[in-house]
Amino acid sequence: MSTHESLAPADTATSGRIQQHRKYLMCRPEHFTVSYSINPWMEPTRPTDTAKALRQWQTLYDTYLALGHEVELIDPLEGLPDMVYTANGGFLIDGIAYGAKFRFAERVPEGPAFMEWFRANGYEVVEPAEVNEGEGDFLLVGDTILAGTGFRSTGDSHREVGEVFGREVVSLTLTDPRFYHLDTAIAVLDPVEGPSGVERATIAYLPAAFDERSQGILRERYPDAIQVSDADGAVFGLNSASDGRNVIISPRATGFEAQLRERGYTPVLVDLSELLLGGGGIKCCTLELRGVQR
Ligand code: ARG
Repeated sequence: MSTHESLAPADTATSGRIQQHRKYLMCRPEHFTVSYSINPWMEPTRPTDTAKALRQWQTLYDTYLALGHEVELIDPLEGLPDMVYTANGGFLIDGIAYGAKFRFAERVPEGPAFMEWFRANGYEVVEPAEVNEGEGDFLLVGDTILAGTGFRSTGDSHREVGEVFGREVVSLTLTDPRFYHLDTAIAVLDPVEGPSGVERATIAYLPAAFDERSQGILRERYPDAIQVSDADGAVFGLNSASDGRNVIISPRATGFEAQLRERGYTPVLVDLSELLLGGGGIKCCTLELRGVQR
């Protein structure tokens, strides 16, 4: 048994938060660089440091393992510097992998590469007809899929993802180009809905990243959500990974860190500053592999 598991019951008793086991897919940033620009964070003239990206990425990988999670790896392909952002590689529920169809030509070849990995690893692959960037724009909360549009995934992909998984899809529109994927503006802190919906699943979000209609939906559906400050949003504070108790966040998101502590979560700080040069953070480097429910 790991140290973490032996500590779990006491921790849970004090915080009330329950850790859930996660299985993730990551990709070592061996070919990481910024050679093109498809989001406002990417400046190809600014030098990148691949060794530093690898070190920072390794810390995230080690952190997941230390927390008791499983991490699978997909081989990085030369010429695909954004492949490190595995969240965009697909969206998986119950062992079914809905493949990604990337918006920009530079990333299009990643779609088939990820689908091939899913197939080879026993997932049932559904090839997408519509443009969508996987878990970058689709987040599972309870039985509902929150789906982002405005910059990358299309509204048609929201219909498609609903058909594939037979679940309710709530479309949300992003309006600020810095927050071009849903996972830069919403963090799912606990996807589990309590018995008979008494305890609602919890999210954190940046209201200013959304249009009025979407803000209204979020307020109504998640009245207890953490609303983060613009300052914490701007350092990609929401681009985080939670296991229901531990929330891996950027060390720069100090306000969000305090909000998480107040709610009984345990923030774990991991700095991915080098990967932010590509416009990605913790969540972007992490794809959840939701297998068949038993
Ligand atoms: N450079 C990548 C892109 O623009 C970053 C992707 C970040 N991924 C994410 N899940 N937000 O597509």
